[in-house]
Amino acid sequence: MNKTSGKQNIYLVGALCVNLRRYIILIAIVTILLVQALLSLHRSPEGSDLEESQRQSCNFCQHFPDYKKEPRIFIVTPTYSRHVQLAELTRLSHTLMLVPNIHWIIVEDSIEPTRLLKRFVQRLKFLFGFKAITHLNQETPEAFRLKPGDPSWAKPKGIWQRNKALQWLRENQESLDSDGILYFADDDNIYDLELFHEMRDTKKISVWPVAFAGGLLVEKPLVDLSTGRVTSFNSMWKRQRPFPFDMAGFAMRLRMVVDKSQALFSEKQPIGYVESHFIGQFVSHWSDLEPRANNCTKILVWHTRMQRPALHEERKLAMPSNYGMA
Ligand code: UGA
Ligand code: MN
Repeated sequence: MNKTSGKQNIYLVGALCVNLRRYIILIAIVTILLVQALLSLHRSPEGSDLEESQRQSCNFCQHFPDYKKEPRIFIVTPTYSRHVQLAELTRLSHTLMLVPNIHWIIVEDSIEPTRLLKRFVQRLKFLFGFKAITHLNQETPEAFRLKPGDPSWAKPKGIWQRNKALQWLRENQESLDSDGILYFADDDNIYDLELFHEMRDTKKISVWPVAFAGGLLVEKPLVDLSTGRVTSFNSMWKRQRPFPFDMAGFAMRLRMVVDKSQALFSEKQPIGYVESHFIGQFVSHWSDLEPRANNCTKILVWHTRMQRPALHEERKLAMPSNYGMA
């Protein structure tokens, strides 16, 4: 009997010790958490001063909360079916989701809206807002389709899709923000958020550099710093073009484009003249262009294209590898 109660006492003391250890560990964890919370409440004044001075040096960051007050940007994106289409559009959508007060007009190069794009747009409507995204379609005529082996510049691209968007903007101008800005954003480029800040106060046509365009690291307007005017361009490819720069390198006042109902993109221009011809319908001289991006010294857009995926194993399969995917 005595032997048993002795054993029980030993167990009791053991259990007490184990519990005590648990309590000590618990108290230590709670103390560490409390100290961390107190430290984060009283951040060092040097740290917050640094943050504030960095914020003040970033003009774009300062204005970020005011975006909603400023003109809406209408972004026109032509897009066509290929393996990487959804990947390109997904990346662009994630950029545009971070830009307040926009209206994204996606124009598919197809006879009818495709199921793929309908689903993509439907999902985005929940994120962008139902009125902030429009899905149109317009097929490129057969004669202007690139044939296998054609270099990518052999035919003008996106002309019919951008014209469809212009037609839609003109037809719906009553219900749109007439004070808005118009930007043609191809589906494959990469855009810095600051670019959209830069174009918000466009009066007629604003311009900026485009990286990897026209066979250069950066194709850009050259600005006379004493007057703040564009005096020439550094373009090399077809440099005799009146306005020798890429589609990604300019934005326009929507009112100006909507009012000039005859102004369109033209497939009849020599290769490479699409942008130049379009801009030439609105302005006649370089000095009419409004340089942005710190007098055209900053790169805020990259003219990129996703590599075609390697699919050489695909043809060995009896069933495509994406069979049955949602
Ligand atoms: C360059 C310019 O950056 C384009 O703005 C211009 O339209 C193009 O040249 C041209 O040759 O006209 P690049 O990268 O060669 O661009 O052209 P893509 O990006 O292949 O096409 C421009 C846009 O049109 C893209 O948004 C693309 O999705 C769309 N596209 C292209 C179509 O809608 N249909 C097509 O058959 C090809
Ligand atoms: Mn492109």
